[in-house]
Amino acid sequence: MSESQGSNDPRIVLLGPPGAGKGTQSANIEERFGVPHVTTGDALRANRDVETEHGTPREYMEEGELVPDPVVNEIVAEALSNTQGFVLDGYPRNVDQAEYLAEMTAVDVVPFLQVGEEELVRRLTGRRVCPDCGANYHVEFDAPDEEGVCDECGAELTQREDDSEDVVRERIRVYEENTEPVVTHYRESGELIEVDGEQSPEEVWEKLREAIDAAI
Ligand code: AP5
Repeated sequence: MSESQGSNDPRIVLLGPPGAGKGTQSANIEERFGVPHVTTGDALRANRDVETEHGTPREYMEEGELVPDPVVNEIVAEALSNTQGFVLDGYPRNVDQAEYLAEMTAVDVVPFLQVGEEELVRRLTGRRVCPDCGANYHVEFDAPDEEGVCDECGAELTQREDDSEDVVRERIRVYEENTEPVVTHYRESGELIEVDGEQSPEEVWEKLREAIDAAI
C-alpha cells in the first residue's frame, strides 16, 4: 500500500489498556473523519464460537488471554483490504501483530489513551452493553434512563463475560506483558501521541481530535 502521507482518509491506530475508552472514542473518530471503525474485539465476539485450528475465540476471551495471532491477523487483513483509511481498535496487541500490520499498510498517527489501573477496573466492571444494538453504558458514569434497559432500542442490558473483576485484572496483566512493548515501539518510531484518558469522554475527545488534526 501507499507510504505514510497527509490524507483525507487518515489511518489511525488507537492504543490503550482495556477500558481506556478506545471503543467510545473510535465512534467519535469514525463520525468526524469518515473512516471505518475496525475492532478486533467486536469481530471476535461476533465469531466467538467459530472453530479454528486453534480452538474457538471464546476459550481465550473468557480467560482474558489473547486469541492466537493467525486468527486475528486474518480479520484485520480482510477489513483493511476494503478501505483506505481506518481507525483500528484492539490491534496490534503484541509486537508480532505490529510487524504484520506494518507489512500491510503505513499508519498516519497512533494516539495512546492513558488511564490508571483502578479507574480501568471501575470502568469495566460497571460497563453494561446492549446485546441487540451494541450501545454501551456505565452504571455510574453513563447510566441509561431506565436501569438495565437500552435507551436506543429497549433491549435488556447485559454484562460482557470478560468484565468480571478477576478477568479484568488478568486482561490488564496481559496488556502490560504484550501490548506495552507495542506502545514503546510506536513511541520510538515517533508516531505515538499520548492523550490523558482519565478525563470525561467529552474532554478526552477534544484532546484526541486536536491531536489527530495536528498529525494528519
Ligand atoms: P476488546 O474488545 O478489544 O477489549 P479491550 O481492549 O479490553 O477494550 P474494551 O473494549 O474492554 O475497552 P475500551 O478501551 O474499548 O473501552 P470502552 O470505550 O468500551 O478485546 C476483548 C478480547 O478479545 C481480548 O481480551 C482478547 O481475548 C481478544 N482480542 C481482541 N483483539 C485481539 C488481538 N488483536 N489479538 C488477540 N486477541 C484479541 O469504555 C469502557 C467503559 O468505560 C464503558 O462503560 C464506557 O462507557 C466507560 N468510559 C469510556 N470512556 C470514559 C471516560 N472518559 N470516563 C468515564 N467512563 C468512560
